[in-house]
Amino acid sequence: MAVRFKLYYFTDEIREYLQGVINGSRQGVVIRSVPLTAALPEQTNHDADVYLVEYDETVPGMDQWIEKIQHQQGHPAVYLYLREASTETLLKALRLGVQECFVQQIGEEEFSKAIQRLLKIKTGLKPGEKTQIISVLGCKGGAGVTFIAVNLAHSLAAPKKEGVLLCDLDLGASDVSSFLDMQPKYTIMDLVENFDKIDPQYLRDIVYSLESGLEVLPGPPRLEEGELLQAQHIDNILTYIRNQSLYRWLVLDLGDHLDDITLKALERSDLIVLVVLLTIPGLRDAKKILETFKLLEFKDDKIQLVVNSFKNGVDIKLEEGEKFLGREFLAVLRYDHGAVVRSINEGRPLLESQPRHRLSGDFAALVDKLQAEGSENGHRPGMWAGLKRLLRLGGKS
Ligand SMILES: Nc1ncnc2c1ncn2[C@@H]1O[C@H](COP(=O)(O)OP(=O)(O)OP(=O)(O)O)[C@@H](O)[C@H]1O
Ligand SMILES: [Mg+2]
Repeated sequence: MAVRFKLYYFTDEIREYLQGVINGSRQGVVIRSVPLTAALPEQTNHDADVYLVEYDETVPGMDQWIEKIQHQQGHPAVYLYLREASTETLLKALRLGVQECFVQQIGEEEFSKAIQRLLKIKTGLKPGEKTQIISVLGCKGGAGVTFIAVNLAHSLAAPKKEGVLLCDLDLGASDVSSFLDMQPKYTIMDLVENFDKIDPQYLRDIVYSLESGLEVLPGPPRLEEGELLQAQHIDNILTYIRNQSLYRWLVLDLGDHLDDITLKALERSDLIVLVVLLTIPGLRDAKKILETFKLLEFKDDKIQLVVNSFKNGVDIKLEEGEKFLGREFLAVLRYDHGAVVRSINEGRPLLESQPRHRLSGDFAALVDKLQAEGSENGHRPGMWAGLKRLLRLGGKS
């Protein structure tokens, strides 16, 4: 995972030195360097995670300027660099609320530890909280699962910079990479092959980091590769990531199939977002899946129904859909072919490319409701193993 640095310096010599330190670390990348003069520059947000500032206490207004950085959108961290410092200066610098102060030579290990501390804070996990797994599952092919999973993961990651990993577990039709215009070097297959060597650093090297802060574990590039994956692999990966508390949210694109792999992922999930289309076949498929979930003894509050592509006046009425399924819908996402296709073709989440669009507003409402959902959405592990014989896996039972 890349940590984006914005660098402020007084002399070219220090710029070169600090750039070398950042680029020499495994995760740091300089996205912008800005020279400082006695007239401190206006701050503009470039989505940096860290501002590394050469500190000079004799420059008037510098302390207030540093405090202002920390109140910017996204609350970037501030690291100060001092050529030399008395204890007094150091204490004064620390009182500004900055994350780290470096004096003179910066050791490689010292810098890497500072980044690790920052990444821990970035996950957004508070003491006692655990990673929440949200699965997105469709009742039908083409229901909008990937579109919803991508935009949901983006909205959870972007504003508060919470750690979010989006995993493409639709192994037969992995689409997440094209929805986000990514050319990933690694996929879930690399993680499976090297699972015995896994550590947090290795995982962060494998996942693809987007500028918004969202991280992605892409699906297998080819169908036949996906066939090598087993439910146990998925279980190992999800359990490892959750136990390491590396992310606040894990969002899974499960496509629309119930099979060993997706059932394992559903079993491990805290919340299941079931994507429903308000047509007769769409509702019938939704009902069958809900019946299957009942057999699996998933608790009702673990499952949330979200209507997608809703066309008022054309689709079945919301109240009728709720009555048929015996459940309320958590949220309704309207139909807008143009907006959705444009966002998919641009390779950017709709919420990023068209944040003011009415469909983006529908998403914001969905995210608010999901965030408000309690984390106590229990399930009974292992229940599906016996029951799967009763189900026609791969179909909709
Ligand atoms: N709210 C919406 N309004 C209009 N069109 C939509 C909406 N959501 C999705 N679509 C359309 O449906 C198509 C399928 O979307 P998406 O690929 O996200 O579905 P999926 O369930 O992941 O499909 P697959 O079964 O192929 O994995 C998209 O190309 C998009 O044009
Ligand atoms: Mg899909």
